Amino acid sequence: MAKDNGPSQVDIERASELREQVAYHLHRYHVLDSPEIADTEFDVLFDELVALEQAHPTLRTATSPTQRVGAPPLSQFEKVQHVRPMLSLDKATTRDELEQWMRRCRNRLGDAEITFSCEPKIDGVAVALVFEHGELTLAATRGDGKEGENILANVRTIGAIPLTLETSTPGAIKVPSMVEVRGEIYMPVKRFEAFNAQALARGDKPMVNPRNGAAGSLRQLDSKITANRPLTMYCYSLGGVKGEWQPKTQDEVLRVFAGWGLRTNPALEVVDNLDDCLGYIDRLEARRDTLDYEIDGVVIKVNDLRQQQRLGSVTRKPRWAIAYKFAAQEATSVVEDVDFQVGRTGAITPVARLQPTFVGGVTVTNATLHNMDEIARMDLHVGDRVMIRRAGDVIPQIAGVISGQRPADARRIDLPKGCPSCGSSILRQGEEVVVRCSATRDFCPAQRKEGLKHFVSKLALDVDGLGDKLIDQLVDGGLVANSADLFALTHQQLAALERMGAKSADKLLAALEAAKQTTLPRFIYALGIREVGEATAAALAHHFGDIEPLYHADAEALEAVSDVGPIVAQSIVEFFTQSDQRKLVLTLRQAGVHWPSIDVVSMEDLPLGGQTWVLTGTLDALSRTAAKQKLIELGAKVAGSVSAKTTVLVAGPGAGGKLEKAQSLGIDILTEAEFIALLTQYTN
Ligand code: IVH
Repeated sequence: MAKDNGPSQVDIERASELREQVAYHLHRYHVLDSPEIADTEFDVLFDELVALEQAHPTLRTATSPTQRVGAPPLSQFEKVQHVRPMLSLDKATTRDELEQWMRRCRNRLGDAEITFSCEPKIDGVAVALVFEHGELTLAATRGDGKEGENILANVRTIGAIPLTLETSTPGAIKVPSMVEVRGEIYMPVKRFEAFNAQALARGDKPMVNPRNGAAGSLRQLDSKITANRPLTMYCYSLGGVKGEWQPKTQDEVLRVFAGWGLRTNPALEVVDNLDDCLGYIDRLEARRDTLDYEIDGVVIKVNDLRQQQRLGSVTRKPRWAIAYKFAAQEATSVVEDVDFQVGRTGAITPVARLQPTFVGGVTVTNATLHNMDEIARMDLHVGDRVMIRRAGDVIPQIAGVISGQRPADARRIDLPKGCPSCGSSILRQGEEVVVRCSATRDFCPAQRKEGLKHFVSKLALDVDGLGDKLIDQLVDGGLVANSADLFALTHQQLAALERMGAKSADKLLAALEAAKQTTLPRFIYALGIREVGEATAAALAHHFGDIEPLYHADAEALEAVSDVGPIVAQSIVEFFTQSDQRKLVLTLRQAGVHWPSIDVVSMEDLPLGGQTWVLTGTLDALSRTAAKQKLIELGAKVAGSVSAKTTVLVAGPGAGGKLEKAQSLGIDILTEAEFIALLTQYTN
């Protein structure tokens, strides 16, 4: 490259313009969550700036957005004294404790009016950012509250954190000569999950939870590692300020922060009494699982900063704030044993039996372990102390083994020699992580039971009142071996069962009778063909129009169906080459199972063909399952999360994150009433 003869005036101006534009678009992307240009367009600007700076190194300023990962690795972090201590918070877990805290505030402040700011308590890492003349010059961890570590090089890599405070926003407060901004750096849940999925695929150790992930990422001495971690920040308080600005309230502080380009949580609300505060807490807890950040409660602060000052602090805790804590979603427990469960398709899944532990509001005794690879990856032994996580209604998971606590008699976990239900050998197919019982459903009682449970489930034949325990009883008692046997059950047989009277027997027989009238998609789904879920079953039904053409379809004919790939096609072919499966279908039809004929159309030609719908919030008139079923029958796909591909969101009361996302993406949103009106229009 030619020697730098010094940049021209044009270069100097262009570099400054590009620095501003790049910083502007980074802010729109990372802080406001609303980019104005495509990633590729951004890259063009960024690359031009990099090229200019390379040609003329004097143009490379310390706050240039290209300099976010410029620092060489450190050998250790420099210690920093906090000008004002970083405090921790007192906590409340009940309405009474919160009420008492509010009363104490009122008593100390005399009869002054008090309002309170309510904010999510983010589970991340607390940091203090110092901006001098608008420029980020220091970023410190909390440490022991008095002394922390300077993690500036790492913090500079985080896109949501501006290197210079924005000064040109109209009406914005002038940036003071020094301002310390405090807040929480965290890992967004979705990006944490994606990061872990990639780590697993590479064979790396995943992070235990988003909080550990954030802490570990900030502890890196090499900022290039931090730069590749998905981190962001919400700013939540003013640590100190030198200059003219004298904010009056907490909510004003956050508005001014946002004006300077700092990221603040839009969920802040100011309330003036206990009931409204509790209302906020309830609403936030209800949408806890839809938030893209983990929270462990709500921080309630006296909103007026002068009142805060008058209240002061005691032993490192302010009197003017309190943390209302939710039930923990994580706890530790001990793995007492590992059982192997056999599923409907013979898949064998290890399940950990845990010392009963209260987590996320319930007592947990089991956690799924997914597969043997997962056990190997965690190096899990029976006897280990483990971290368990339970978010919302999700099945509890083991997040990791607590190291250094393995007892001397800990036991390795081995795959059993044979199927725990029927003793047949266990197979592992090719690269599949799943292992399976080599026997078919006719031989293996566990597969038989699971197959029957699937057959009678809501989205399949939907037999009312035929629960898991009863199926176990019927199979163990030798009364039922396959789905057709269900329809041959007699009143006498049923009434003789334990815990079953004449009345319940009648009811069950009526339910079985009613279930005979079904639909072709439900029937195909009920067969329990591996890889064939409700959506695929519906597509097959509409494509083939009846069950017989399905028997004879080869892989090629099957792959002509939308959404059917080679694996699904092969699984269907294998299923129907078993002559007993064909016989079973025949017996079921002879027993009276029937469905209205169905016109052969492709899913795309159905009223909602090619559309993707999402359901959120509570639905009153229709269960989730029924709503989903109706949509599938009309040709729609039903997805679990909102994305640019979503066609319509049905939002019932209590809708949270999905609704917000759909609104921001401009996706059509229907209330339940509108949704039902639409369904009637199509089904009449
Ligand atoms: S204010 C003087 N606001 O909770 C109290 N803290 O135990 C200053 N935290 O270390 C904290 N979200 O890491 C405040 N919206 C929020 C918060 C929050 C999370 C953390 C923070 C602090 C801990 C307090």
